[in-house]
Amino acid sequence: MANAFDTFTLKDITLKNRIVVPPMCQYQAVDGMPNQWHEVHYPSLARGGAGLVIVEATAVSPEGRITPACLGLWNDAQAEALAGIAASIRRSGAVPGIQIGHAGRKASAHVPWQGDDHMAEDDPEAWETISPSAIPFGANLPRVPRAMTPADIRRVQADFVAAARRALGAGFEWLELHFAHGYLGQSFLSVHANKRTDEYGGDLAGRGRFLRETVAAVREVWPERLPLTARLGVIEFDGRDEATLADAVSLTRDFRSLGLDLLDVSLGFSTPDANIPWGPALLAPYAQRIRNEAGIPVSSAWNIDTPELVRDVLAREQMDLVMLGHRHLVNPHYPYELARALGVENPARTTLPPSYAHWLDRYRASDER
Ligand SMILES: Cc1cc2nc3c(=O)[nH]c(=O)nc-3n(C[C@H](O)[C@H](O)[C@H](O)COP(=O)(O)O)c2cc1C
Repeated sequence: MANAFDTFTLKDITLKNRIVVPPMCQYQAVDGMPNQWHEVHYPSLARGGAGLVIVEATAVSPEGRITPACLGLWNDAQAEALAGIAASIRRSGAVPGIQIGHAGRKASAHVPWQGDDHMAEDDPEAWETISPSAIPFGANLPRVPRAMTPADIRRVQADFVAAARRALGAGFEWLELHFAHGYLGQSFLSVHANKRTDEYGGDLAGRGRFLRETVAAVREVWPERLPLTARLGVIEFDGRDEATLADAVSLTRDFRSLGLDLLDVSLGFSTPDANIPWGPALLAPYAQRIRNEAGIPVSSAWNIDTPELVRDVLAREQMDLVMLGHRHLVNPHYPYELARALGVENPARTTLPPSYAHWLDRYRASDER
């Protein structure tokens, strides 16, 4: 039975605890380049005590950005700037990870606080979107994407491989492929988005092909000693959930045999016609199912909102790693609060940098530490 502050080892990487900062877009980049915002944001999260900090969805090509303000990893200047961020995450006490992805038919959108919707096609900042089929997401993202040709598929896969190489060169030690949330990878898997009649569509073998090939191609350049993971939407809450879950289990088994080390269990977001039962730790049972039936370590997120829930999802072996998103945004030192709430001995020394913990130890009554 794991506790939140137990270590976790995957390949040659040992996390100091089971708490993860999941990828969270900042929408602060220009031309995919990180800047002072990212240089402060990421190390401050790492300093807060999580074992692993995963840098936000980083586009493998300009067209793969969700918005014009998303990070990218399609050129060496971006990799060089991200290397500084990876180093300061490590210097601040966490393992540096990064999520790479392609937004597919959800690309070319305004940042959330400016609408979260597609830019007008004649907006000078907008670009053409691509997807397995020429089917729009709908709702706030109505733009009809161009159906990808086989050459597009090969090019995007090559972009994933090049981005993985750059992530390695930049010093990241944990790589997550973004196959969730209705973006390109998820769109290949989704019956809502993929109506192809070639070998990349149809049954699960076809709809999973792009994802399997991408995992295999990235594994060739991402060293065996480092964890390769993917975030997959395993459920949509669209009324056909048993089929979606069964597909996810089967595909995850394939991923595992191709060398994937961990699945990050998330939501599909492939259709606006979903009825998601938002509630505490809503994905924990599905994470557990993937973990048990696909035989692979899992991480998961979504409303694991209290110390008791963190404790319970680990104690019940529903997941190996707990991802805490919005908790970290409002308080990067949430792991310290968590350690105190869970009654961990020496919470300050367990979660804070030595220079902070030292003074807390000196000045605080022992029952407050
Ligand atoms: C500001 C923000 C940005 C996000 N960006 C990403 C992202 O880049 N990639 C991703 O897979 N999920 C993204 N997410 C989802 C989070 O990784 C996480 O799964 C979600 O916030 C649920 O966890 P929580 O309930 O602990 O916040 C984002 C969430 C937030 C709040």
